[in-house]
Amino acid sequence: MNDFSNIINWDNVFKQSENFKTNQPCKFAFIENFFHEDFYNKLYNSYPKFDDSWDHIVTYDKNHWSKKWAGTTTHGIVQDDDDNSLSHEWNTLKKYASTKEFTENFKKFSNASVEKLKHFHFIGMSQGGFQLPHVHNVGPSTLVMMLYFSKNWTKGDPGATYIASDLDESSILFEPYNLDNTLVIFQDSQYAIHGARYLEKDVKRKALQITLEGWSPELGWSGGDPDKIIEERSKNLVEL
Ligand SMILES: [Fe+2]
Repeated sequence: MNDFSNIINWDNVFKQSENFKTNQPCKFAFIENFFHEDFYNKLYNSYPKFDDSWDHIVTYDKNHWSKKWAGTTTHGIVQDDDDNSLSHEWNTLKKYASTKEFTENFKKFSNASVEKLKHFHFIGMSQGGFQLPHVHNVGPSTLVMMLYFSKNWTKGDPGATYIASDLDESSILFEPYNLDNTLVIFQDSQYAIHGARYLEKDVKRKALQITLEGWSPELGWSGGDPDKIIEERSKNLVEL
């Protein structure tokens, strides 16, 4: 049996529940000291190095590094596999994020109808990294979390995921500057606009993205199955 009792500071999480539920125009919260210190230090010390095992994704709307968990499908649905290239603690966290307890706690925290873990992957950013403001808008049963593992972030510096009220960086409502054992969580909606400002300094923004979502055996993922969506789109492609 795995012991998951010393991983997450659930008291700290639940302290922000009211805040999350009442924030406007989208539901979001920022949680500091998310992990218990000892467990966090072990995750921090074994966060994977940016190397050939990562994909450097450079498109018009973003520049970042992505590292999928072993066995993840092409479009990011994480499976039950362990990732033997990563430390025991990262594998323990991944196992915990797949449990009913983990999902139920975030369901209680948010009142969102999440059922299980959809995404669990590393997102890194180095000098020149950014992501334009965007919105997913796939439904209310999706919780997106960005967990941070970068020490000594300077107050006011760009690079972390912000929440904005419009598709424009001048409308940023919240941008975190403590990226050392912290979590930004938001619930998807048409108003859940987010992005990351251009990272000018030669620093590494180390993050993990976790997505929890609604799911049922009959209907699958509430926000859609990315593999199926992409397959459908390619079928419907009309040449212009
Ligand atoms: Fe996004």
